[in-house]
Amino acid sequence: MADTITVIDNRTGKQYELPIKYGTYPTYGAAINTGDLRDIKVSDDDFGLMGYDPGFTNTASCQSAITFIDGEKGILKYRGYSIEELAEKSSFLEVAYLLVFGSLPTQSEMKDWTYNIIHHSFIHENIKKFMDGFRYDSHPMGVMVSTVAALSAFYPESKDIMDEQNRVHQVYRLIAKMPTIAALAYRHRMGYPYTLPDNELSYTGNFLSMMFKMTARTYVANPVLEKALDVLFILHADHEQNCSASAMRGVGSSQPDPYVSVAAAAAGLYGPSHGGANEQVLRMLREIGTKDRVPEYIQRVKDRKFRLMGFGHRVYKSYDPRATILREMTAQVLDITGKNELLEVAMELERIALEDEFFVDRKLYPNVDFYSGIIYQAMGFQEDMFTVLFAIPRTAGWLAQWIEMLNDEEFKIVRPRQIYTGEDVRGYAPIDARPK
Ligand code: CMC
Repeated sequence: MADTITVIDNRTGKQYELPIKYGTYPTYGAAINTGDLRDIKVSDDDFGLMGYDPGFTNTASCQSAITFIDGEKGILKYRGYSIEELAEKSSFLEVAYLLVFGSLPTQSEMKDWTYNIIHHSFIHENIKKFMDGFRYDSHPMGVMVSTVAALSAFYPESKDIMDEQNRVHQVYRLIAKMPTIAALAYRHRMGYPYTLPDNELSYTGNFLSMMFKMTARTYVANPVLEKALDVLFILHADHEQNCSASAMRGVGSSQPDPYVSVAAAAAGLYGPSHGGANEQVLRMLREIGTKDRVPEYIQRVKDRKFRLMGFGHRVYKSYDPRATILREMTAQVLDITGKNELLEVAMELERIALEDEFFVDRKLYPNVDFYSGIIYQAMGFQEDMFTVLFAIPRTAGWLAQWIEMLNDEEFKIVRPRQIYTGEDVRGYAPIDARPK
C-alpha cells in the first residue's frame, strides 16, 4: 500500500500524487503537507492551491511528542503516561519536569528541579511596585498577563533563547514565579500585605500559603486540599495545540523572550471559550440557583440564547477524562469544606444534558472547566481567580511547547496565508473630492 493520495484537478484534468507524510499512530494523525498542494496550478503564473481551514479545525500546525489526545475515546496522555496514572501517582512538579524535558526525572534530577523552582519563587521588589499600580478591582488575569510581560524587562538576558542553559533558567523562573504573581494579584485586590514564598512548603502548599496566610507564622494547608490542588494542576498542565499553546508557539516563533510569549498565551487562555470558562461555569450555576430551574435553563441553551459553559470541546467528542477525575475529586473536597448546593445544580445539569438529544447529537459532554470551579470555590478562591489557577500549571505546558518548537528542524516563523476577498484596484480620491 503506497503512502500517497492521488488528486485529479478537474479544472485541468491533471493528476497529482501527494505523499502522506505524517502520523505514527495507526488510526490517527495521517496528514499531507499542504505545501505540496502548491504544485496544483491551472497555469504557470497561478499561485497554486492552498488549504483553507478557519479555526484550524483539521490542520496540524506542528509535530509534537508532548501530549496525546484521542477525542473520540476520551484519552489524554502526557509524554505517553495516562492522565489517570499521573493524577493518582505523580505530583505537579514532576509532571512539569516530564512535560518540559520529555521523561520522568531521576531522584537527583527531581531534587535539583524542586530546589531550582523553590529558589526562583521570589519576585523583584520593583515588580511588586508595578503590581501596586493596578486598581483594587482589576481582574487578576489582566494583572497576571501584564506582570508576566513586565518580567521581560527585568530579565534582558532571556532574549538569548537559543542558549539551552539560559532557556532552562527562564523555565525555572516562570514556573516558580507564576504562583507568586497570582497570589500577589489576589492580595493586592484584598488590600492584604504580600506574603513571601515559604521554601519549606510544597509547590501548591506554598501557593496556598501566599494566598491565604494571615497572622500565622507558618501556614498549614489541609493536606487533602493541598493534594487536590496539585491534582488540578496536573490535569491543567498541557493540552496540546489549543488556543493558548498556539499563541505561545505563534508569538514565540518570532523569537522574543519567553515572558512576552507566556503573556500572549495567558491572554489566549483568558477568554471565556478557553480557560475563562471555569469562571463562567460558576456564574452560570449561581444564576440557575436551584435544581428545579435546570430544565428551564437547558431549554434556553437549546433555544441558542447562550451556551452551556463547561460543556463541549473542539477535540473531545466523549467525556473529557479530566472532568471524570474532577467529578470524583469534587465530592472528596466537599467532604472537607462542607456541602455546596452548586454541586447539586451541576450534577442535575449534567444528568439532564447527557440525556438530551441536543447535547447527545452534538457530542457535548462536560469538560475540565465544569467541575474545577466548584472545587476552587470550595477551597476559598474567588471566581475571577479561577483562570489564574489554570494559567499557573499551564505555564509548564506552554514552555514545553515553546522549547519543542525551538528545537524543531522544521521551525519557521508562524505566518499563515489568507484568501483575499477585498477590492482589486481602486483609484484614490482626495478628501476634497469625496462626499461631505
Ligand atoms: N452549549 C451549547 N451548544 C454548544 C456548546 C455549548 N457549550 N458547545 C458547542 N455547542 C454547539 C454549537 O452551537 C454547535 O451547534 P450547531 O452545529 O447546531 O450550530 C455545535 O455544538 C458545535 O459547536 P462549535 O462551536 O462548532 O464547536 P467548537 O469546537 O468550535 O467549540 C468550544 C468548542 C469549547 C469553544 C464550545 O464547545 C464552547 O463554546 N463551550 C463552552 C465554553 C467552554 O466550556 N470552554 C472550555 C473548553 S475546555 C477547557 C479549555 O479549552 O480551556
